[in-house]
Amino acid sequence: TWTTQTFLEQSIAEIRETVGDKRVLLALSGGVDSSTLAFLLHEAIGDQLTCMFIDQGFMRKGEPERLVELFNNQFHINVEYVNGRDRFLAQIEGVTDPEEKRRKIGHEFIRVFEEESTRLGPFDYLAQGTLYPDVIESADTNVDPKTGERVAVKIKSHHNVGGLPKNLRFKLVEPLRKLFKDEVRKVGRAIGLPEEIVSRHPFPGPGLAIRILGEVSSEKLNILRDADFVVRDEIKKAGMYHDFWQAFAVLLPVKSVGVMGDKRTYAYPIVLRLITSEDGMTADWARPPYDLLETISNRIVNEVKGVNRVVYDITSKPPGTIEWE
Ligand code: XMP
Repeated sequence: TWTTQTFLEQSIAEIRETVGDKRVLLALSGGVDSSTLAFLLHEAIGDQLTCMFIDQGFMRKGEPERLVELFNNQFHINVEYVNGRDRFLAQIEGVTDPEEKRRKIGHEFIRVFEEESTRLGPFDYLAQGTLYPDVIESADTNVDPKTGERVAVKIKSHHNVGGLPKNLRFKLVEPLRKLFKDEVRKVGRAIGLPEEIVSRHPFPGPGLAIRILGEVSSEKLNILRDADFVVRDEIKKAGMYHDFWQAFAVLLPVKSVGVMGDKRTYAYPIVLRLITSEDGMTADWARPPYDLLETISNRIVNEVKGVNRVVYDITSKPPGTIEWE
């Protein structure tokens, strides 16, 4: 029978056996899978592990800083911070199509990953937070026909873009490959990952870039980041964070008329998307207290310059999707 403790003991032994004295690279996203993986590998091989965090500029307010501070100062797992904010934004300038946005962000991710792994390397192994459902989905596509070894042809970064360049075909370490999400959470908790990361809401790889409909700009990113912060801040204050599968703000690229003081305003609307779900495949819009909606709306309109209206999305999935792009 599966227990967290036997899993930890066996996988740490296995990692040591596989890796020997070689170096391992891990692309950290801050989510529960890659964070659990980082803890597990650090426990097994210490500073033979290098963690790299690529900041695309599309994360929530304060999250990149928080991630680096948590890992470097509290967990004492060194993270190489890569600031990609300008180059990612430059890649999607003028892009309005959602899939095109995802593709461009994904390709830039591969380019940055390639540059940085060369700069920090060489590495023999790439650690990936592949889970059991991912193994099933990708079937045998990652197995080297000659050696039977699983090799990296893709980076699991939530960006389903083509393959890795040939010179980057690391051998893989995937200690979570037999686990389901709830088991990863158990392992994460058992190995000391704080609840803040273990039970964090899912967040898409392209981040806020796909929550700004149409063209993304730094002005719009700032607006959405501030509005999104208010949403999270208020649901946490209300003690309701865990009542939602996801809870976030979306910025629409239209303007409407409002009034503030004795002045007419003409600014963007923010959509609130608060949903409940078991697995993200289907979802329902949440029925939070009106008081909570009121507080969020008031704060956003008062505190976030550039927004003069807040609307609530009452569409379930299907037929809607969770994200707006
Ligand atoms: P949808 O919008 O398809 O979202 O109902 C289902 C779940 O997937 C997340 N999502 C993504 N995650 N990259 C990701 O890593 C993406 O491009 C992406 N698009 C959607 C979404 O947040 C929800 O949890």
